[in-house]
Amino acid sequence: MPHPETAAPPAPEPPPEAVAPLMRSLAVLRELAAGGGRQAVGDLVRGTGLARSTVDRVLSTLTRLGHVRIEGRDAVLAPRLLELGNAYLAACELPDRLGPLADRLADELDESVSLAVPDGDGVRFVHQATRRRAMSLAFRIGDLLPAERGAPGALFADDWAAADWERWRLRRAADPADAGFPAVPPRPPGAADDRSGDFVARVTAARSDGWSLDDQLIEPGLVAVAVPVRDASGRTVCALSVVSHTSRLSADALREAVLPRLRETVGAMEHALRAPAPAAEDAHGPAQASWMRASKQELGPEFVESMARGLITLTAFGAGRAALGLSAVAEATGLARATARRALITLEHLGYVATDGKLFRLTPKVLELGFAHLSGLTLPAIAQPHLAALVERVHDSASMAVLSGDDIQYVARVPTVRIMSVNITLGTRFPAYPTSMGRVLLAGLPEAERSARLALADLAPLTRHTVTDPERLAGLLARVRAEGYALVDEELEEGLRSLAVPVHDRDGHVVAAVNVSTHAGRCPADEARAAILPALRETAEAIEADLRVAGRYARIPAL
Ligand code: PHB
Repeated sequence: MPHPETAAPPAPEPPPEAVAPLMRSLAVLRELAAGGGRQAVGDLVRGTGLARSTVDRVLSTLTRLGHVRIEGRDAVLAPRLLELGNAYLAACELPDRLGPLADRLADELDESVSLAVPDGDGVRFVHQATRRRAMSLAFRIGDLLPAERGAPGALFADDWAAADWERWRLRRAADPADAGFPAVPPRPPGAADDRSGDFVARVTAARSDGWSLDDQLIEPGLVAVAVPVRDASGRTVCALSVVSHTSRLSADALREAVLPRLRETVGAMEHALRAPAPAAEDAHGPAQASWMRASKQELGPEFVESMARGLITLTAFGAGRAALGLSAVAEATGLARATARRALITLEHLGYVATDGKLFRLTPKVLELGFAHLSGLTLPAIAQPHLAALVERVHDSASMAVLSGDDIQYVARVPTVRIMSVNITLGTRFPAYPTSMGRVLLAGLPEAERSARLALADLAPLTRHTVTDPERLAGLLARVRAEGYALVDEELEEGLRSLAVPVHDRDGHVVAAVNVSTHAGRCPADEARAAILPALRETAEAIEADLRVAGRYARIPAL
């Protein structure tokens, strides 16, 4: 999807020190994000206006960084790219400090609650505690609203200078349908707030009321009330919103119902903001420097170092590393000062970094680099490319399943030849006890829950090999736990062998299992294990690495 030309204000000339390859790679990432995370390479060439050879070099460098994946003719955003947005979110500290309070409010009210920050003349979400029913759209972390649509913008615009208002007017004139804001539905012609006076009036009212209302400014039915959260200096750093739907509450009824609790929570949030800064996260400087050399050696001209260095510069920032001087950035990234300086100048020119001349900070605009799309990925979507790579290696079908009651349920599958009598599709269920994925999932449960389930389970024989003795099964599960894998031969179906390992989330909980299934008659079990287990383990580790990045600030649904 090409960017709407009307929405882009004329770009100022880049400064002479700007690093052109870095600018190009960011243009490719933005284009991919605008296209929903996937674009044919040919369309990327058209959309960015870059030469095909340039796009190819950008993509091989981004692939090496783990930010992009190539699937056939398409380039696809990959979860590692979330490291850039994570650096901003960790540095700004808002999700870490305020997120738990927002989650508690959502639980209490049983409504969606969000935190959003000002971003130019827009509003960007940095935390979501979603209780969204089917009726309305849900915003993701990183999504951007125009300030005049939604509740938080009227609170932020109170701080705008004349130049900000001028930029806002120009944008409204150039993009009357909000095409530059893909997260919101197009503004219907003649919609409320089409005259700028409406927004100005809401800004004035929000200042005296201390709250701001969204009465279906985004889409019919969607209502929200927002309250500003201020830091110790009195500056509005973010807005806390409660969101509902007119089928439950009118905008005014929502405000009446939630304002007292909203204000109490903001009080607690403002207190949390005054707590001391967190200890500084470790930076990866030296490791990155040697990784960069190795990548250059391996890929030659297809690895554009200046581009990789520029992107790595963003990850110098993080928890306890919100404002860094040039030397600190150089040290954190392992880059020469001159290199870090040019990268920072480029990033500042593009709006991803702000500076007072001495210290540099990331801006919320960093989240525009694919964060909303990638933070919305589900566990199966994250697993799918890794399962496909596994199937390429072992030439047998691979799947992912989660526990659902006493069953396992398939959530991802990459088939080769069909060796089961039943056709496994997504959603297929089998009892957990006679399957390799079920045993891995049961073994991953807390001890008490595992024994309680075993005591209640109906262990029927499905083949002549099915283990149905509860004590024997408990022994097998203990072994699965100790060895980190399960191999099951012909207990679910004659002739079927399956090998599974667990997948852990950031906190170390087993959230899914991945398996490879083969013919039991093809070779002895030991041989199958030696041939498959290492690749299966590497697959689980690759999925876990993605989950660690993706799950830092977003909740990853299992389905
Ligand atoms: C949301 O969190 O989804 C949200 C917040 C404020 C609005 C609308 C939606 O005005």
